[in-house]
Amino acid sequence: MTKRLLALLFALLPLAASAAGDVKLQASNVNIGDRASLQRGAALYMNYCAGCHSLEFQRFSRMAEDLGLTEEQVMTWLNFTERKFGETMTIAMDKGDGEAWFGKAPPDLSLVARAKLGGPDWVYTFLKSFYVDETRPAGWNNTVLANASMPNVLWELQGIQRAVYGQNKDGSSHVERFELTTAGRMTPQQFDQAARDISAFLAYVAEPAALKRQSLGVWVLLFLSLFTFLAWLLKTEYWRDVH
Ligand code: HEC
Repeated sequence: MTKRLLALLFALLPLAASAAGDVKLQASNVNIGDRASLQRGAALYMNYCAGCHSLEFQRFSRMAEDLGLTEEQVMTWLNFTERKFGETMTIAMDKGDGEAWFGKAPPDLSLVARAKLGGPDWVYTFLKSFYVDETRPAGWNNTVLANASMPNVLWELQGIQRAVYGQNKDGSSHVERFELTTAGRMTPQQFDQAARDISAFLAYVAEPAALKRQSLGVWVLLFLSLFTFLAWLLKTEYWRDVH
């Protein structure tokens, strides 16, 4: 727990310097209480993200417990590494290799849904904001993270977006909107849901205790209402004889 908090603190430090910029984030409407969404998000994450990004604070076993999955389901469908069920989701990629291959090592994503301004909305908008840019080494750019060294790993699902530029007053240009020039395997609505599911999964990973806290909250409220009722009964009992 302390390790998680410390890491969050360090993750937050550079925030001041890299505030979300002038890009408007879209509402992800993630719901970490929606177990099916978390399960889909986990599957998408393991298939499309875990090759590059570790989740150093998350154990496979804890994910199984929280998402209502069996050990067999996790080890067959969600763990493509040599890691054991009780181990954390580290990856085989070496930081140095990552830097050499992408120009920047893919960061651990354990806390990203809390560390970024906008949280899951940042992740959601980021995943939807890749566009073709031939001037970039990987051929992709992103409006949320300008000149991101991450390629658009979801392009087969989303399709290919090109940027439509608008003119600024000073003559420079900005990305006004995107145009889907090649359709993907998913419709735009399906892709929104996929991005939402991944963002929900990362929101869960950033604070697994939130699931427990929310279900506990219901009991706390029930207890408080019951207690208020009892106190009221007691009060009427005490004051019955006082006129
Ligand atoms: C091929 C390797 C690769 C894959 C696969 C990949 N990423 Fe990345 N990702 C990167 C790199 C490299 C960066 C660093 C980008 C930068 O800062 O320029 C990055 C950055 C990010 C960031 C920003 C992190 C930060 O702290 O700024 C997020 C969020 C992210 N990736 C999410 C994802 C998700 C979700 C997936 C799966 C859908 C995914 N990535 C798949 C390579 C990858």
